[in-house]
Amino acid sequence: MNDNSNYSRHVPVSRRVRDISPSATKEMANLAAKTGGCVSLGQGVPSFATPDHIVAAVTEIMHSDPASGKYTLQSGMIQLRECIAGYLLQEKNISVNPENEICVTVGGMEALLTTIFTVIDPGDEIILPSPTYASYIEQVLLAGGIPKFVPLTRDWGLDLPAIRQAVNPKTKAVMLCNPGNPTGTVFSDDQTMELGRMAVDCNFVIITDEAYDYILYSNETLTSLLGLKTMREHIISVFSLSKKYALTGWRIGWVAADQRWMEQIMKVHDATTICAPTPSQFAALVALEGDQECVTHMRNALVRRRTLCCSRLDGLSEYFSYVPPKGAFYVMAKYLFSDSPSREVATRLLQEAKVITVPGGSFGPGGEGHLRLSFGGKSDEINEAFDRIERWLVRFG
Ligand SMILES: Cc1ncc(COP(=O)(O)O)c(C=O)c1O
Repeated sequence: MNDNSNYSRHVPVSRRVRDISPSATKEMANLAAKTGGCVSLGQGVPSFATPDHIVAAVTEIMHSDPASGKYTLQSGMIQLRECIAGYLLQEKNISVNPENEICVTVGGMEALLTTIFTVIDPGDEIILPSPTYASYIEQVLLAGGIPKFVPLTRDWGLDLPAIRQAVNPKTKAVMLCNPGNPTGTVFSDDQTMELGRMAVDCNFVIITDEAYDYILYSNETLTSLLGLKTMREHIISVFSLSKKYALTGWRIGWVAADQRWMEQIMKVHDATTICAPTPSQFAALVALEGDQECVTHMRNALVRRRTLCCSRLDGLSEYFSYVPPKGAFYVMAKYLFSDSPSREVATRLLQEAKVITVPGGSFGPGGEGHLRLSFGGKSDEINEAFDRIERWLVRFG
């Protein structure tokens, strides 16, 4: 027997996993770590630290309550679920039973994954209005589904006739990220309600992702489709506390849906995570019940950073065009100075100008030719990044 031949054989990685790609956002962050000295318009993490009152309260609970280091019920602590149900009713007119229609999850990410696994069988299609949040693509593939891209309109609106045309018997869901990452778009109630009626008529589900619901740059208020009785069974809604309360590292969010869905979602959640981290559940409770001044403070800072980012882009109108963001803290900047693929442009910008951005092509069709810029960082960092881009563009010629 030849030992060497055994060494050269590999157990293959599953096709499902082979078919998915590492996130471009993290790839750029890794490249930046190797390059050194970079400033970031890349990752979607606002600069804020977790508010002191949340850290202090959780620290105190961890010292005084031995249960705070143990598993909770799979769906989350009942006092947190009751608090979430009250919040959803008050803020969004969504009525859900805290006993069996809310599952507290490991961030919005786990809520999305468990939902997608619950909704589709291998071979089913999920419509992704595109450019789309890149992780939806990988999550759909991971669940054996087929991402069906439907381009957004030129100003990043929903193309409802095109979505209707894309619907077929294999269509199980449409992802609705509103406000949108990566475009900063906000879909109007007229558009989302029409999509909701389509979901009922054509019998698919809308998975709403409301991670950025707290940050709109107009006085618009958005209707949450889950709150509408006529379409309730067709809506599964995902929420995150990551950005709103500067809790990205705590990994806490939830999914809300009719009991019929939730019973099934709970099976996936239990099989993957058992429950969300208990200290983080306490953090969520403190965040939701506590003083909301921290949210106002962060929101105001993001309003100023948006103005700064837009004015710096306006100063580079020869090189970039963009649709001003109406929500979240991202701009998809279309570059006018190169025909190269966005991955190449972003990599050059990182290596030569030391500015991190995310290649637009990683967000699906319609994203190519763009760079996603995040203005979650501090104003100094945004200014420094644009100064470097300006100098690089002059050299670029
Ligand atoms: C649109 C969108 N949904 C979900 C998430 C995941 O958030 P979480 O940190 O709650 O898992 C993000 C994070 O950037 C996001 O941008």
